[in-house]
Amino acid sequence: MKMKRTFSALLVVLALCGVVGYSSSAYAAGDTPHPPKQDWSFSGMFGTYDKGALQRGLKVYQNVCSACHGMKHLRYRNLTALGYNENQVKNIAAQYSVTDGPNDEGEMFERTAIPSDAFVSPYPNEAAAKYANNGAYPVDLSLITKARHSGSDYVYGLLTGYSEPEHGVEVPEGKYYNKYFPGHVISMAPPLSDDIVAYDDGTPTTTEQYAKDVAHFLTWAADPYMEDRKRIGLRVIIFLLVFAGIMYAYKRQLWADLH
Ligand code: HEC
Repeated sequence: MKMKRTFSALLVVLALCGVVGYSSSAYAAGDTPHPPKQDWSFSGMFGTYDKGALQRGLKVYQNVCSACHGMKHLRYRNLTALGYNENQVKNIAAQYSVTDGPNDEGEMFERTAIPSDAFVSPYPNEAAAKYANNGAYPVDLSLITKARHSGSDYVYGLLTGYSEPEHGVEVPEGKYYNKYFPGHVISMAPPLSDDIVAYDDGTPTTTEQYAKDVAHFLTWAADPYMEDRKRIGLRVIIFLLVFAGIMYAYKRQLWADLH
């Protein structure tokens, strides 16, 4: 009896800790709202990436975001996962030039990028990137959807979350109001607007669609093996179920005489 009461008391304390922990984390997030959940093809246990969305997202990244943000963890050859063949990947890489070297004379030189090169960054270093963006650093986007809570929803929310300042937030010159950026004041000008990137598959060329596609692409870039992981997980679960069944049948047979 006494044990039971101690146990219940412990449960109450744990529950209270949970409530306090939860509310304090909600408080720490300040008044920046949580980005609304989007409907992604890759969500859930059976979710997969949509190659069309990935290809469109790459296009948005190349045409818009890559002017300021690098994706140095990605190599051009990784793009075969988007459904491109080797020749197409070669052509995509050939649109860029990289600094290589030193050559026999000790000089660095420029050459056309090849599939094994990492995505070319727009700036040679962090200082140059900050200098070109009024002191704000355009982060490398290779892992952004992993580095932020609910990353895919966050990127979508951020790209579609610009508006006139609300709730009396002061926005200094050269900065912008964004509903989903922590603190609401961001140094990135709204990068998207309707019809700035041509799509050749009939998908609408709206800000929302660009945001959705580029967030899809960035999610893949940060987690390219997600589909494999889900497939293996599913096989493990099926194996465990079958194994449990066999073990149960075996146990029944073993104990049959004792019933
Ligand atoms: C003209 C340059 C420029 C372009 C183009 C641009 N960005 Fe940015 N971006 C920035 C800068 C600068 C920051 C840092 C903002 C800050 O810290 O206030 C930033 C920040 C971000 C952040 C980070 C927010 C965080 O949580 O730290 C994300 C995500 C982002 N950009 C995504 C994109 C995407 C996706 C595109 C293409 C659709 C894009 N950006 C295009 C300059 C740019």
